[in-house]
Amino acid sequence: MKKPNKIAVLTSGGDAPGMNAAVRAVVRSCAFYDIECYGVYQGYQGLIDGNMKLMNARSVNNIVNKGGTFLKSARCLEFRTPEGRAKAYKNIQDKGIDALVVIGGDGSFTGAMIFQQEHNVPVIGIPGTIDNDIYGTRYTLGYDTALNTVVEVIDKIRDTASSHNRLFIVEVMGRDAGHIALNSGIGAGAEEILIPEENRGLDQMLESLQRSEKSGKSSSIVVVAEGDKTGENVFEIAKYIETNLPYYEVRVSVLGHMQRGGAPSCFDRVLASRMGVHAVEKLREGASNVMVGVIDDKMVLTPLEKAIKGKSEINNNLLRVADILSI
Ligand code: F6P
Repeated sequence: MKKPNKIAVLTSGGDAPGMNAAVRAVVRSCAFYDIECYGVYQGYQGLIDGNMKLMNARSVNNIVNKGGTFLKSARCLEFRTPEGRAKAYKNIQDKGIDALVVIGGDGSFTGAMIFQQEHNVPVIGIPGTIDNDIYGTRYTLGYDTALNTVVEVIDKIRDTASSHNRLFIVEVMGRDAGHIALNSGIGAGAEEILIPEENRGLDQMLESLQRSEKSGKSSSIVVVAEGDKTGENVFEIAKYIETNLPYYEVRVSVLGHMQRGGAPSCFDRVLASRMGVHAVEKLREGASNVMVGVIDDKMVLTPLEKAIKGKSEINNNLLRVADILSI
């Protein structure tokens, strides 16, 4: 397979801290290996509209520390159609682009895979999502930063919880995955953690909160992933607790998109840098239709199809740790 001469890089799906650092790593690796690099704006929409700019090593100055993505991101419906993808292909052909780096989550990788199959353009994915829910990597870009953000906020909520003897229910992101809830919950010392992967029902939580109250706890934190499968939203959970345990004064805090913003942690910057360099080096070696990841501190490649369909498992031992410590 011929080495690429022109690579395009884009960010797609929900933004995540570390995406800028990954774009920087791709652009600079291209400069290092004498490859032309186009930055595509607005994700796949930019490919369809031809909204892209030739970048050089200096185009990505002073962004390693910035949250969000300067290339901007979008969830693009038109790219889900063969016509949209044909327009995108025409644009990259016109520019002579012969490989694509897609930084995003599983939805973005699905688009990349179909595009590769239809038009035979080599593509490589870099996992960028705060949810950490992608198979083939121990960590996704933005996850570590989001965890630190959540823990910092829950620490603050704890001040009020303990000053007022209240029970706080904190909803964190994670539409399909409980990584953020489980890890931030343990890190912030939550009494209870509800995640999509494990539906223990609300009664177990009530029993545990009752035990805590009897043992002298005067305030509590319950962390709930937004995709939690108890079937109740956080406000309903709050009502349920207040009805069944009337001595608790309950408040709800939905953290929302603040979890996606902010300067990337050092961990995410290093991860992004390694992934960006690896993506370009592997494209040069002829890799395609794969995602870069890190497992046991080694860079690995996983077929996009597997990355999309595989499940990023929750560490069950963490559930046990959370249970033991919530005594
Ligand atoms: O994919 C990351 C994520 O943060 C999910 O946890 C959340 O459900 C979703 O994005 C929110 O997406 P949007 O910004 O489109 O509302």
